[in-house]
Amino acid sequence: MNVFDLLDKYGSPLYVYDEAILKNRCQQMKEFSNQLEKGLPNNISVQMHYSQKANSNLEILSIVKDSGLSVDCMSPYELMQAKKLFNYSDNYSDSDKLLYVCNNISSHEMKTVHENGVLICLDSISQVETWGMLFPNTEIMVRINPGTSGVGHSKKVVTSGKETKFGISEANIPELFSVASKYNLHIKGVHWHLGSLFLDDKINNYIEGVKSGLEIVKKYFSGVEIVDLGGGFGVPYKPDEKPLTLSIVVQELLPILQNVVQDFKSIKSFKFEPGRFIPCEAGSLIGEVTAIKHENGIIWVGTDIGMNQLVRPSMYGSYHEIEVVKHTQYDSPKAMVNFVGNVCESGDILGKERLVFIPKVGDAVIVHNAGAYGYSMASNYTGRPRPAEVMVKDDGTYKLIRKAEILN
Ligand SMILES: Cc1ncc(COP(=O)(O)O)c(C=O)c1O
Repeated sequence: MNVFDLLDKYGSPLYVYDEAILKNRCQQMKEFSNQLEKGLPNNISVQMHYSQKANSNLEILSIVKDSGLSVDCMSPYELMQAKKLFNYSDNYSDSDKLLYVCNNISSHEMKTVHENGVLICLDSISQVETWGMLFPNTEIMVRINPGTSGVGHSKKVVTSGKETKFGISEANIPELFSVASKYNLHIKGVHWHLGSLFLDDKINNYIEGVKSGLEIVKKYFSGVEIVDLGGGFGVPYKPDEKPLTLSIVVQELLPILQNVVQDFKSIKSFKFEPGRFIPCEAGSLIGEVTAIKHENGIIWVGTDIGMNQLVRPSMYGSYHEIEVVKHTQYDSPKAMVNFVGNVCESGDILGKERLVFIPKVGDAVIVHNAGAYGYSMASNYTGRPRPAEVMVKDDGTYKLIRKAEILN
């Protein structure tokens, strides 16, 4: 099916995912965990918890599950999705499958997590206090801030170091223990997430962060069973970027983990929470060119893909490749253009200064690498419905995996 047939059938704009790429990325993550597991003593497992925040479409989640990965949840909705996915009804205490990673949640939300029996990871002493008052004598995980500068494609997604709202810093760990012991809470696991999107040039920063995190674990958390190193595995967005070499990450990480388990016999599992890596490259957002204008020496290509459909460019200044597909054959010169959306905000820019054949109204655009933090961050801003999602199956057929919203 071509782009125009898809837009005719499912409406514009439209998220389209490629099942083969999705499965491949899940396999790569599974292989990553297998490689680590092989190098560690037999009693230690390595689990990959796909971070649903990147894309929580149930069809995508079921591919994740069928690939042997687990998930993490960050909201009651994601918890509900995970319950559907793993087919369980009431209490589900298998932390190999599910984790609830959160920050600054209400006591009401804590009750939901507790009712469902899912292991919670709390990220401040204040939240530990609230949990402890509600549910003394229970098990928790805690999020620490390893204190290193973190990794991340934008300051907004660096989640380690002095300037972030996340985790408990080393200086406050003695107080954490006194609050935990007041309520007889057992700290079963320690977690950190350094930030989002590291590629080969940042592997060293990632490893530095892991070392700092493990130093804190060794110093304070004797008896801990789970060490969760978070996500952050990057993908190339720009044409000159290369995919992350996972074998190098394994090579760097394995000796560090081997070392830690030698001194620390209580550790039973290491966890990771990859989000973006799995759906990002499988997804594209397609839409229509709705206007062209030449103003003050700038060519503006208006599209129906606004910041409400894909917020990453306007929120983080993120780069996505944009491809033009002509509706009919015609000649047009190449020029630098700005692709923009249909929202009344100056920041509603999809891609700046792109050298392309100047399109016409009625042509289509394909925004690449939109599978992660695309639909999941889409909104109804200005009262526009979120688009449909379609999966291109292994056999080349198309499956509607979420209808376009209808706003009443
Ligand atoms: C706690 C936590 N875990 C995992 C992730 C997934 O990160 P990524 O998509 O970069 O792999 C995030 C994303 O921000 C996060 O906050």
